[in-house]
Amino acid sequence: MSGFVIAVDGPAASGKGTVAQGLATLYGLPYLDTGLLYRAVGVSAQRQAGGVGEASATAAAQALDPALLDDPELRTRAAGELASQAAVFTGVRAALLRFQRDFAAQGSGAVLDGRDIGTIIAPEAPAKLFVTASPEVRAERRWKQLSGQGESVALADILADIRLRDERDSGRAAAPLVKADDAVLLDTSVLSIEQAADAARRIVETARANWAKA
Ligand code: C5P
Repeated sequence: MSGFVIAVDGPAASGKGTVAQGLATLYGLPYLDTGLLYRAVGVSAQRQAGGVGEASATAAAQALDPALLDDPELRTRAAGELASQAAVFTGVRAALLRFQRDFAAQGSGAVLDGRDIGTIIAPEAPAKLFVTASPEVRAERRWKQLSGQGESVALADILADIRLRDERDSGRAAAPLVKADDAVLLDTSVLSIEQAADAARRIVETARANWAKA
């Protein structure tokens, strides 16, 4: 039997990163924020070619420097936008696929979060969560996060970003954001961080008991 893999998907600022990190700590599993890979591709295409087009983004994905993943610029609002532009290209997704699949396949098991973990990267994962929240709640969370980082943006602009990203991520042909049939939906709109973590833990405990029996 391979390791226990937890796939966490959901739209921007849904709380999936916090939930996934909490699960990784709880179960002692390595964690990969796959959004960071797309952010790195978008930022590097922007730096090297002055923008995100199919050729520049695919080249950036094929030559991705892992050191870039620690760059604080990846956490900015602009990087999120560049990431979602780069993520529509099949060449970009193909270039990032092996790394993510290898991460999921390590013997210890793993936790990955993103948009297509339960559907494309790790469709066999024994535990799948689809974390969501209303656009208004997500905008407020992202606004707080960006303000905390010293980036001043109007809440209404963040809400517009979120709606645009939802539309682009869900509407694209390549690996669109969609809940896997066997993923458990976790709506965090009215939950505190602790409540969301607790609900996620209960979902994963059930999946783990079934996995151990299999
Ligand atoms: O999760 P985060 O907001 O950092 O992701 C940035 C963008 O990267 C998303 O809006 C999405 O377009 C893209 N992405 C993706 N597939 C993933 C992770 C992120 O397409 N597995």
